[in-house]
Amino acid sequence: MAEIRAVGEAMERALALLESGDVVAIPTETVYGLAGDATNGVAVARIFEAKGRPRFNPLIAHIADPAMAERIALFDPLSERLAQAFWPGPLTLVLPQRPGNGIHPLVTAGLDTIALRMPKGFGGELIARFGRALAAPSANSSGRISATTAEAVAADLGPRIKLVVDGGATPVGLESTILKVETGKLRLLRPGGIAAGEIEAVAGMKLLRGASGIEAPGMLASHYAPGAAVRLNAAEVTPGEALLAFGRSRAEGWRDAAALRNLSETGDLREAASNLFAHLQNLDRSGARTIAVEPIPFDGLGEAINDRLSRAAAPRDKIAPRDKMDWAP
Ligand code: TXA
Ligand code: MG
Repeated sequence: MAEIRAVGEAMERALALLESGDVVAIPTETVYGLAGDATNGVAVARIFEAKGRPRFNPLIAHIADPAMAERIALFDPLSERLAQAFWPGPLTLVLPQRPGNGIHPLVTAGLDTIALRMPKGFGGELIARFGRALAAPSANSSGRISATTAEAVAADLGPRIKLVVDGGATPVGLESTILKVETGKLRLLRPGGIAAGEIEAVAGMKLLRGASGIEAPGMLASHYAPGAAVRLNAAEVTPGEALLAFGRSRAEGWRDAAALRNLSETGDLREAASNLFAHLQNLDRSGARTIAVEPIPFDGLGEAINDRLSRAAAPRDKIAPRDKMDWAP
């Protein structure tokens, strides 16, 4: 059962948990976040596991200061102006990633963009002390509403996490506003703690609304979907195919695979989740026409892994339009 500690007494314990790759529920000015080291794939997998999320949606990376933000993402003059005006605060900016930024691909669901936000209060101090970005979705189990008190977090996620840092009721009480900067234009991806009008006043332009396509989940799937075809539940490998393996026993013909990566030798789904995007990308780079994927169990994180893989396997034109909004919070 999670321990609840007041902000004044929680810093060292929170740092120790984060250092060990564990997750911590923290207050921010918007809602409570379930935070983990954004550079550690197993820590990020633990976030999804604790939330019981059936999907790997991209998460917001929380940063402590502009310098940390610049190390992670590429800012254009407009996004810089918005960051200056609204950070720290409830504004999240979706920006191109800086190559080699060390952020684990599970944070961004393999996208080449990243959502960044600088929170106020304890969260900001914690990130500054930790020295690395924290991935943090809202601290509630999948399908439930976001938690705005430490008690609500503990009641929901208590059995699955070790620490809830209690900063009282979150002042904004609603998630951050998410903006995507699209070459000189701004798209509102999620209304939130900062009103669109306030942003328009600073930016000197109207916000575009609705998903631009790439943000839609179906597109998201095909966006990182390999150039290679993906074949699921493979019991055998055809010569020339690449193999995405799982566990100890291999699909028949594995020795003839053009390339081989194992999501987890020991069959650990948390490890498998943390390896998923990097291994898919790696096998795709092998140039194989098809990536055969061994069966992966559906329990725990297996559901989200299978969801992502089936999206990667789906032909683009088979992606149903109703998918287009269902990964919005
Ligand atoms: O106020 C908040 O934003 C809270 C606190 C904890 O900071 N966090 C939060 O995170 O609401 P979460 O994971 O519940 O929402 C993250 C959302 C995703 O559902 C998606 O809409 C968007 O951020 N997102 C993240 N990365 C993205 C990307 N690369 N492109 C487009 N949208 C992205
Ligand atoms: Mg949420």
